[in-house]
Amino acid sequence: MKDLNEFKRIRLAVLPTPVQRLENISRLLGANVWIKRDDMTGVGLGGNKVRKLEFLLAEAKEQGAEVVFTTGGAQSNHAMLTAACAKKLGMTPILILKKRGVTACKGNQLLEKLMNTDVRFMDTDDYEDIYAEMDRVGRALGRPYYKIPCGGSNALGALGYVACAKEIADAGMRFTHLICAEGSGGTHAGLALGAKLFLPGTTVLGMMVDTDPFDVITLDIMRQTAALLEADVDLGPEDVHLRDMCGPGYAIPSEAGGRAMAVMAENEGLFLDPVYTGKAFAGLLAMAEEGAFGPSDNVLFLFSGGAGGIFAECGA
Ligand SMILES: Cc1ncc(COP(=O)(O)O)c(C=O)c1O
Repeated sequence: MKDLNEFKRIRLAVLPTPVQRLENISRLLGANVWIKRDDMTGVGLGGNKVRKLEFLLAEAKEQGAEVVFTTGGAQSNHAMLTAACAKKLGMTPILILKKRGVTACKGNQLLEKLMNTDVRFMDTDDYEDIYAEMDRVGRALGRPYYKIPCGGSNALGALGYVACAKEIADAGMRFTHLICAEGSGGTHAGLALGAKLFLPGTTVLGMMVDTDPFDVITLDIMRQTAALLEADVDLGPEDVHLRDMCGPGYAIPSEAGGRAMAVMAENEGLFLDPVYTGKAFAGLLAMAEEGAFGPSDNVLFLFSGGAGGIFAECGA
């Protein structure tokens, strides 16, 4: 198997991110609940995508790209962080976003405006239309460009979360459960593969906040990432654990997500977001209520960022 250090990587994130015990919530739930502070990755408002972008933008730079394209919904945290990291590295980000979610100058749209980012909207339900548009715009610009898929969720991006699992293992920490939000699959896939490699005994659970076939998507990314690493692991459907926490729809706040945001804010002074981490933490709360965690279990919740969304989706 290849070492993670063999891959080109530009250090963008402040790592390792802290792991903290949620004392009040642990008491409330009668379980041992910990939080991995990937909201503190240190670029923009923080968040999971910085880890993926360390690998993706390294490849972009290596290929000589001057322009970086990516996509997502109107309030995509990934798109905002891609713009922030690309600007930091002297590249020009162009965001071609689905007209999906809050397009007004709030939340991540406001942050993109502050960074003077080229943001365009496309009225389509199909990302393939957007990738074709990236090629059209890139060719017309006549500058070398690099395309990052929605969520940065390909094998190279997922390496960021294989590295995160290794970071936890290297710190000598062990958890029975590792819980994350799942929006495009790369974070869960990287963690699940990373756990298989470095954290035996840890079950990784993806809390789905969209309606895509994540059983297939996650396993596909895990297999592609394992191939990139030349890792000799058997991967199958039994390695993918999912729970549907989408509620009324992607980027539409759910009642359970709102309650979970309140529990976290009132007890720990931390602000989850309505699109990803609020819904994911609602999944953790539901599992606790169902008695899924025993007294000797240690549960780690990945706080994957998303602060920008609070000021768009929750606002009036
Ligand atoms: C704050 C936040 N958490 C979690 C996720 C989900 O990660 P992934 O897209 O890798 O499934 C995203 C992705 O968009 C996100 O912005």
